[in-house]
Amino acid sequence: MNTYQDILLGEIEQSVLTISLNRPEFHNALCNNLLKELAQALDAASSNADIKCVVISGSEKVFAAGADIKEMAKLDAIGVLQDTRPQYWDTLRKFKKPIIAAVNGYALGGGCELACHADIIIAGSNAKFGQPEINLGIMPGAGGTQRLIRTVGKSLAMKMVLAGEVIDAETALQSGLIAEITQPEATLERATKLAQQIAGKSAIAIQLAKQALLESFETPLETGLSLERKAFTILAASEDRQEGIQAFMEKRKAVFKDV
Ligand code: CAA
Repeated sequence: MNTYQDILLGEIEQSVLTISLNRPEFHNALCNNLLKELAQALDAASSNADIKCVVISGSEKVFAAGADIKEMAKLDAIGVLQDTRPQYWDTLRKFKKPIIAAVNGYALGGGCELACHADIIIAGSNAKFGQPEINLGIMPGAGGTQRLIRTVGKSLAMKMVLAGEVIDAETALQSGLIAEITQPEATLERATKLAQQIAGKSAIAIQLAKQALLESFETPLETGLSLERKAFTILAASEDRQEGIQAFMEKRKAVFKDV
């Protein structure tokens, strides 16, 4: 049962939970309550072994138009300093299971930053990504200057953040921001299929592989390679590794038990 106000939880299907942002009248602007509910839903998904992958989506027309500007307008510097939002973003950042963002329409400001928190972005041909905070006399505050530049490179990130220019799905694909473009009506379905494909693998291997991949943003190559080797070694102790290799030898599909 959906006990949330600003997000909708789908049924868990083939180990995939879909979370839909649900403030259609405000282009899914990310008010504090929406972010809080998203963090709560992810916390619950963390400890639910039935969920192996999460899809975050907006509607067919809009992903999210950023932080709720009307809410933000009420905060002075102390209010921003004491804001609980960074802790909600942290829940997303630390979430160990894969997250796929299904993006149609606007993903602006905090909406673009939310998509950038996902491990994979699948976007509709109508998707538009941007960090237009500069037009409000502010700047990105949820990773927009850090994650974006590491993903799309310096020049494009500078253009988006300093000029507030919005990019289309094609440019997002060329720059490596997104993995695939779909028809808008097929974005959620494609993201869900991909999530189910990931959910069919060994959850332990997926968790360690995600951790190692994300570590590349944080560490020098030497440290990252060492972490990768340790994770690879740990996986040698899993039953899923035995099963995966055995299944290959026996020319059958592996059945992973996440142990
Ligand atoms: N916050 C609050 N309300 C928003 C909103 C937002 N980010 N974006 C849209 N809305 C509201 C509008 O105020 C409007 O509500 P009313 O009908 O009550 O006036 C409703 O949603 C529909 O919006 P528009 O009439 O503007 O729709 P449009 O189709 O003409 O334009 C848009 C769509 C281009 C997305 C435009 O709404 C827009 O530019 N929105 C703001 C985008 C933005 O600046 N985002 C960055 C926010 S700051 C941030 O994100 C910082 C951070 O996280 C750290």
